Amino acid sequence: MTTRYRVEYALKTHRRDQLIEWIKGLLAVPFVLHSQPTAVFEPNGQSVDQMSSVAQRRYAEIMRDVEELINDHIAHQKAGTHERSKLKLLIPSVATFFTPLMLHDAFIWQDNRRFISSRRFVPPSFNDIRLVLNTAQVMSLVRGGPLELVTFDGDVTLYDDGQCLHPENPAIPRILRLMANGTKIGIVTAAGYTEARRYYERLYGLLDALQASDLPLTYKQNLIVIGGESNYCFKFGSDSPDLLKLVPRKDWLLDEMLLWQEADITELLDIAEASLRDTIKNMRLDATVVRKERAVGIIPQPGAHKFSRETLEETVLIVQKILEMSPVGRRLPFCAFNGGNDVFVDIGDKSWGVLACQRFFGGIEGGKTLHVGDQFLSAGANDFKARLACTTAWIASPVETQQLLDEIAELDALQQRKTR
Ligand code: IMP
Ligand code: MG
Repeated sequence: MTTRYRVEYALKTHRRDQLIEWIKGLLAVPFVLHSQPTAVFEPNGQSVDQMSSVAQRRYAEIMRDVEELINDHIAHQKAGTHERSKLKLLIPSVATFFTPLMLHDAFIWQDNRRFISSRRFVPPSFNDIRLVLNTAQVMSLVRGGPLELVTFDGDVTLYDDGQCLHPENPAIPRILRLMANGTKIGIVTAAGYTEARRYYERLYGLLDALQASDLPLTYKQNLIVIGGESNYCFKFGSDSPDLLKLVPRKDWLLDEMLLWQEADITELLDIAEASLRDTIKNMRLDATVVRKERAVGIIPQPGAHKFSRETLEETVLIVQKILEMSPVGRRLPFCAFNGGNDVFVDIGDKSWGVLACQRFFGGIEGGKTLHVGDQFLSAGANDFKARLACTTAWIASPVETQQLLDEIAELDALQQRKTR
């Protein structure tokens, strides 16, 4: 039993999203009943069009039912009884919804692009459902009034892992388009540096483009960078040499964050560092420890190869468990995550990073904020915690971020036409 439990828990649970898996299971039934794989070799079989219209109707009906279950869960949230919603019974790990999700309409929208209902051999997949959920979320945000704040993760979301935001990055005009509509922007990254220069080096394409744009200065100032998950805040400054100005902590920290003690921070990072060093030794890793003011991590030694996924995950799960079991780890929020070819433990997490952005811009609500990121698994992933602060979109590459921003623009234009 113990072994089985550990295999299920340690190796699987954190790599599954329960809501997505559950929806996938529901859609598997119409797929089994209505897809027509034999039509490929039986010339008189049902045409793709006939099949797909039946399958689409069935899939969409299920999405409508899930949408209603989520509405019921939201009603329970408002009444303070979310623990007793039917959705919670079906998916115990389900958390707070900041807005309803337009799952029915989003399914049709994605089906028209991905031809999910036309498939005879490949059932609705994890990625299909992830993208339907993203569309459902942005549909709801756009229809529910102006999208006030969008926060972006950096690596994998805006640029490839470890790269920079170069001037030719297609996300740049799309972010400027959002800003021209008055939407505030936060870059909420784990990358933790104390100097503006380092962030300029990573983000210069966007910062230079914003500086050169003809947006009014008040609009330009609607961009901030939160680094180290929730440890450093820089605002756009058109007269600063690096186009970013450090905001002193006292001007942006939330009240709860003021309670984080320096002694606790040091103690937590010491424990994390000892665990990382232990893992390096035990697993013979070609790694270097990096200790910073608010973080500790391991990175490959110069010229070293890529760590395996298993090694990175093992390292994260060990350090996370040790910290969770330590008294200081219960007092102080932290985030241990697999950064692709490194492992970092940061003080705080992205829920605090997003909350800080919301506060900086005068108190924006979670239901008017969207965080876009690539790391939404429940352990070893750092965007996951943003779900505590706002609505989210889970993308898998910078190209998907661009597509999501285009979707927002397209839905926005539709909405404008409707309300005119
Ligand atoms: P994100 O995807 O924008 O959140 O950036 C994560 C990456 O930033 C990590 O994988 C690291 O390579 C890098 N990084 C640099 N400094 C830090 C730090 O202090 N904490 C965590 N990650 C860091
Ligand atoms: Mg990332």
